Amino acid sequence: MGIGYINGKYIPLTEPVIPIEERGHQYGDGVYEVIRVYKGKPFMLSEHIDRLFISATAIKLQLECNKSYFNDLIKQAIKVSGLLESKIYLQITRGIAPRNHLFPDVPVSITMTVNEMIPLDPVFRESGVKAIFHEDERWANCHIKSLNLLPNILAKQAAQEMGCFEAILHRDGWITEGSSSNIFIVKNNELYTTPLSNKILAGITRRAVIQLCEKLSINVIQHPFRKKDLIEADEVFMTNTTNEVVPIVEVDGIYKIGFGTPGNMTKRLYQQFQQEIYQD
Ligand SMILES: Cc1ncc(COP(=O)(O)O)c(C=O)c1O
Repeated sequence: MGIGYINGKYIPLTEPVIPIEERGHQYGDGVYEVIRVYKGKPFMLSEHIDRLFISATAIKLQLECNKSYFNDLIKQAIKVSGLLESKIYLQITRGIAPRNHLFPDVPVSITMTVNEMIPLDPVFRESGVKAIFHEDERWANCHIKSLNLLPNILAKQAAQEMGCFEAILHRDGWITEGSSSNIFIVKNNELYTTPLSNKILAGITRRAVIQLCEKLSINVIQHPFRKKDLIEADEVFMTNTTNEVVPIVEVDGIYKIGFGTPGNMTKRLYQQFQQEIYQD
């Protein structure tokens, strides 16, 4: 059983706590992070906290506390939860105030959940997953990890209704990212991924994979690529905190990627990723 946290207090997950006039609830006026805990340790915590501050600054959300406050808070929450393998959602909103678009002069609201990690069904890793292409209908600031996820939700739901696992988003045919992941393609043993800009989220797993490739002397080219490049790739995989590295083997029900099974590069990177996590 997981735990909840709200503004200094740990609570059961089922306790109803968000007031009607909380701005995350009313406007999606806030930012968040998702952090994986392996063997009781938060993975790439300082990178997550850095990104949290980047997101908060981008929406002019004034955090009165510094990075080490969040570092301590997250480690404390892990201890309180008693969970060794878990997933943390940390959410900060512009607080509780009478409804008005303008920023209120009230303290921010900090909430957190720590839940036991239910790992991805191994079948998905062994067989690979299917995806759909979906027009990227999001706003111009996708580098911000904001609470406004409606276009992502609609794309993911569309994928699920087509019997698929992920929606691969594109703007005018140029791949941006997944509805909740970054996308890599493999061609001739080199990796390609969309470069960082306001069009995508700077995924922490994306960064971990790039760092891993540096170690393994695998070339990663951060360059825009099109739907056609993805369809013709030898391998495609998605990355995110929850699912790590997942092979994509079919798109739109008609395009088989490579041989239609997970490729060697994807398998190797996933294995190396596991090794990095569990090495000490
Ligand atoms: C839109 C989007 N892009 C990329 C990612 C991957 O980011 P990370 O690896 O930090 O989980 C996510 C994660 O949820 C996401 O929602």
